Amino acid sequence: MELQKVDIKTLDENFIKNIGFEYMLVCCGRKNSFNMMTASWGGVGFVWNRPCAFVMIRPERYTYKFMEENSVFTLSFLGNNRHAYAVCGSKSGRDIDKAKEASLTPFETPEGAVSFDEARLVLVCRKIYADDMKEKCFLDNSVCSSWYGGKHGGFHKLYISEILSAYTK
Ligand SMILES: Cc1cc2nc3c(=O)[nH]c(=O)nc-3n(C[C@H](O)[C@H](O)[C@H](O)COP(=O)(O)O)c2cc1C
Repeated sequence: MELQKVDIKTLDENFIKNIGFEYMLVCCGRKNSFNMMTASWGGVGFVWNRPCAFVMIRPERYTYKFMEENSVFTLSFLGNNRHAYAVCGSKSGRDIDKAKEASLTPFETPEGAVSFDEARLVLVCRKIYADDMKEKCFLDNSVCSSWYGGKHGGFHKLYISEILSAYTK
């Protein structure tokens, strides 16, 4: 692993830019069995007196199964590696070896999660709270109808997680 552990409070990062425009990989599982996908929805903040991150994963994703079966996962920020984001955001780990196709080198973090040597920033997260998004809970129905059903797919599951560690290059 080429990354150094840092105190997350010292990071000078804009996570709206990072997540929404750089993107990130959500990776879950152990080194012998893991999957990752591109995500551009989620957030980083402070909840329950600790640094937390949230991600939203649709049940159709292969990654969803790994998120359900494991307590820790990583958010990996790859900078300008558009090829890796394109592969991991359009292909399923059910069908191909995504790490190989995306030229990513997996490693296991000390917390027992998987990330990639190519990442510039890695957040290791532990799930605290999870729930399926529900139509009846939307206060703005136009958002619900724009993003769920039809070609979009099922309701995301929201995972709120404690950030256990941060690593940078
Ligand atoms: C830019 C981008 C952002 C995405 N963000 C999310 C997301 O936040 N949540 C989600 O469930 N899927 C998201 N996806 C879709 C998954 O990355 C995509 O369906 C992927 O192929 C799933 O792979 P898997 O089946 O191996 O898990 C995104 C795709 C792209 C291209």
